[in-house]
Amino acid sequence: SPLHQFLAELPKCEHHLHLEGCLTPALVFKLAAKNGVALPSPEDDPAYASPESLAAHYDNFGSLEDFLQCYYRGLRVLVAEADFELLAWEYFVTAAEHGVRHAEVFFDPQSHTERGVAFDTVVRGFKAACDRARRELGITTRLIMCFLRHLPPASAAETLASAVEGGHLDGDGDHHDDDNEARRTITGFGLDSSEVGFRPELFADVYREAERRGVRRTAHGGEEGDPTYISGALDGLRAERIDHGVRLVEDPALLRRVVEEEILLTVCPLSNVCLRVVEHVGQLPIREFLDAGVRFSINSDDPAYFGGYVLHNFCAVQQAFDFTIDEWRLIAENSIHGSWIGEKRRLELL
Ligand code: HPA
Ligand code: ZN
Repeated sequence: SPLHQFLAELPKCEHHLHLEGCLTPALVFKLAAKNGVALPSPEDDPAYASPESLAAHYDNFGSLEDFLQCYYRGLRVLVAEADFELLAWEYFVTAAEHGVRHAEVFFDPQSHTERGVAFDTVVRGFKAACDRARRELGITTRLIMCFLRHLPPASAAETLASAVEGGHLDGDGDHHDDDNEARRTITGFGLDSSEVGFRPELFADVYREAERRGVRRTAHGGEEGDPTYISGALDGLRAERIDHGVRLVEDPALLRRVVEEEILLTVCPLSNVCLRVVEHVGQLPIREFLDAGVRFSINSDDPAYFGGYVLHNFCAVQQAFDFTIDEWRLIAENSIHGSWIGEKRRLELL
C-alpha cells in the first residue's frame, strides 16, 4: 500500500505479545531435538511431520480453544534458560525490523512450572533477552506475567509468591521514573488463556496484591467473552488496560467509560481473524473506536501462529480502513501514552 513505508517507520509500541506465541515451527523442531523432547508422532498428529506441515496447521484454527491446545503442546520444547532467551531474542530481532521501539511482552509462567521448569529459569532467560534488546537493538521492554485463567486462583497465588520470593516485583512504584521502573523485572500482571466461563473476578485477590505492590494490571477480555468480561476486569481487578476488548463495541455505556478513564485496548487484528472472532479485519470495530476516542494499540498477539508480526497487522488494518496519516499518528501517540514507561522514555518516543 502507499502508506507501507510510512507505517514501517512509524515508532511503534507493542503491548500484546505472548513470548510463547513467538515459537515458530522451525524453533519447535530445533529445540525438541536439542532437549530430547518427543513431539507427537506423525501417526497421532500429521501436523507434526515437519516444520512445513506444522506451519500449515497454524493457518487453520477453529477457535481460541483449538489454538490454545496447539500453543500448550508446542511450548513443552522450552526447557533451559537459553531456550527462553533465544525465543524472546528472535522476537525482538523481528520486532526491530518492524519498527517496534518499545515492547511490553507477556509470558505464562504456569505453563512452564506445571511441567517442572523453575520459575526463575523462565524469568532469567526472558530478562537476558530484554537486556540484550535494549543494548543491541535500542528497544525498551517490560515483562508482564500472565495468570492462566483455566487454572485455579490458588495456582495464580503460588505464581505470585514465586515472583515475590525471586525479588522480581521489587521497586518503589513510582511509574514516572524510568530508572525505578527498570529495577522491577516484572512490571505488570495479565490474565490469559480460555476466557468464557473463567470470569476475571476469580482473580481479584492476586490483582489486589499487585496493586498494593505497585505492579501494573491488565487482563484479556472481550475477545470471545461478552462485555461483562471487560467491566469485570475494570471493576473486579482494577485493570488499567484490556487486552483485545473488541466486544466493547456491544456496550455503548461501557465504551464511554473506557474513553473517559483512558483505558487502552490492545487490539490484535490478525489474531482475531485466525481465531474466528471475525471473518475479516474490516469487521473489527476499529473505525468506531477511533471515532469515539477509544485509545488502542495494534498488536500481533502470537505472531508465529497467526501469520504476521506487528507491521503485518498495521498493514492489514490500513488495507481494511484506509486511515489518513494524521489518524495513524494519533494511533501511534495513543500507544506511546498507554505504555508503562516513565516520562523520559515517553519524550524520546513521541
Ligand atoms: N488469548 C488468550 N490466551 C492466550 C492468547 C490469546 O490470544 N495467546 C496466548 N494465550
Ligand atoms: Zn493474547
